[in-house]
Amino acid sequence: MTTEQTVIAASVLACDFGRLFDEVQAVTDAGADWIHVDVMDGHYVPNLTFGPMIVEAVRRTTTLPLDVHLMIEHAERWVDSYVDAGADMVAIHPETLYHPHLTLTSIRKRGKQAGIALNPGTSLSAIEELLPIVDYAIVMSVNPGWGGQKFIEGSFERARRLRQLALDAKTSLTIEIDGGMNTERVPQAAEAGIDVVIAGSAIFKADDPAAAVSDMLQAASV
Ligand code: DX5
Ligand code: ZN
Repeated sequence: MTTEQTVIAASVLACDFGRLFDEVQAVTDAGADWIHVDVMDGHYVPNLTFGPMIVEAVRRTTTLPLDVHLMIEHAERWVDSYVDAGADMVAIHPETLYHPHLTLTSIRKRGKQAGIALNPGTSLSAIEELLPIVDYAIVMSVNPGWGGQKFIEGSFERARRLRQLALDAKTSLTIEIDGGMNTERVPQAAEAGIDVVIAGSAIFKADDPAAAVSDMLQAASV
């Protein structure tokens, strides 16, 4: 897929969790396209966030598409819970489970979009055999686990190579980039053929998150 305008997905990892639902509401009102939700289990990544109950509460707060990014071991055991909680999209890291093909297929069988997240150190070939059954890929431009990290240079180039793989396979693929993104990098992402920019700190750590969303949407529209 290539959307006309880069989608801006607000990643709640960087928000004030004491005001989680107000913050989701604020970025929804500001026009963010999607809400990106980072689920971390303290095992696959050292950090720990939340589970399906919080995702379900976020679901009740916004009508925007919910992009659930699972950074957990044995993701296959949890996929159904996140779909039940209201996820529209569920992404797994292929190294967290033995049978990614099976789990991605099960996400699709539930009528949701299936995604695969690729760490900076993961070869793009990890997705090659899965392309026919994957709706989207998250190119990680930081190592997963925390918000506020520095963008890893070369990530746009990886996205370009991934686009070529999808073109060669004659399959449509939505490409997202996750980590260290800010308004300045939005046009570069668009130029690299990236469909979705995920941003946490650049939105929620800004003095005015709603204004930050507007700036990003503006950058995405030129
Ligand atoms: C990192 C998460 C990201 C994170 C990005 O593991 O997958 O979604 O929220 O945060 P920023 O935009 O602050 O780099
Ligand atoms: Zn994420």
